[in-house]
Amino acid sequence: MTLESRERAHAIRRTRRFRRTPALRSLVRETRLDPRSFVQPVFIDARATSETPIPTLPGQSRWPIDAAAGLAVRAAKAGIGGLLLFGLPDDKDDRGAAAADPLGPVPRALRAMRAAAPGTVLIADVCLCEYTTHGHCGVLRAGEVDNDETLPLLSQAAVAYAEAGADVVAPSDMMDGRVAAIREALDATGRRDTAILSYAAKFASSFYGPFRAAADCAPQSGDRTGYQMDPANRREALLEGAIDVVEGADAIMVKPAGPYLDVIAAVRVRADVPLAAYQVSGEYAALHAAAEHGWLDLRGAALESLVAIARAGADITITYFALEAAAWLRE
Ligand code: PBG
Repeated sequence: MTLESRERAHAIRRTRRFRRTPALRSLVRETRLDPRSFVQPVFIDARATSETPIPTLPGQSRWPIDAAAGLAVRAAKAGIGGLLLFGLPDDKDDRGAAAADPLGPVPRALRAMRAAAPGTVLIADVCLCEYTTHGHCGVLRAGEVDNDETLPLLSQAAVAYAEAGADVVAPSDMMDGRVAAIREALDATGRRDTAILSYAAKFASSFYGPFRAAADCAPQSGDRTGYQMDPANRREALLEGAIDVVEGADAIMVKPAGPYLDVIAAVRVRADVPLAAYQVSGEYAALHAAAEHGWLDLRGAALESLVAIARAGADITITYFALEAAAWLRE
């Protein structure tokens, strides 16, 4: 029997035909990575006087406020979708008051970035944990995070960032009702055009470790399981997304990304708003650590992790690889 007749007899489907050349593979590629959908997190440190590399996040730094303008120009030139700002304040207190200080690191950086790169999308993370002495994302009362007492503080921070030029505010605290509270505060201060990207499904993850070292925001006692989600729950992520959209979220997020691709896919089919996924510090640091040992190829593994997040259904990917991956994709 010839090969041709055997092929007909058994109706072999030769899927390798479209894998033969780079051009054929490119023609049938289902998911394409686009730097315009990447968001780069940046750490603005009120106390830094020069770029300070972050040991837990190879290739990432804490930046002084006067470096902000240059970062925004760099993001615009790289063609990425935007920047997500985190702040390290001069001083902390038990209520995280510095989060809403109009002269704090994030508002000052936003003003400089807005002036230097007017078209760049600027997103400000809204949370208290970088600003509280105890490191929790809300105000403590009898050792517990008090949900409703935290809401006005988050709202004041969001208004401060909107007034400083943020296009989008992104609450990451996981308090109930914070999207509605922030929307009301923004509208009441004439900031109707500021969008809210809520960290709707933010899991109590061990993958945040390198970030907490970078942003100096680890809880000093206990953990975040009383407000962040149980990693075992997918249905609850759909509920969180639905609640935040009803409260007024313009876009929602799943975080972390790589270990939660099923959650991204499930939220994608249920929600009509733009969906972001955050490839968090531990995902990034783990790839770097393995690559440093020579155990995997950083560029290949990083791009594969990003295409997986896009394939799962994320419209926006927040990733520490954003600037670097944009350069890789241009080559
Ligand atoms: C603040 C916040 C955290 C991250 C983003 N915003 C830390 C946390 O919740 O403990 C984690 C980001 C990352 O790991 O890259 N609430």
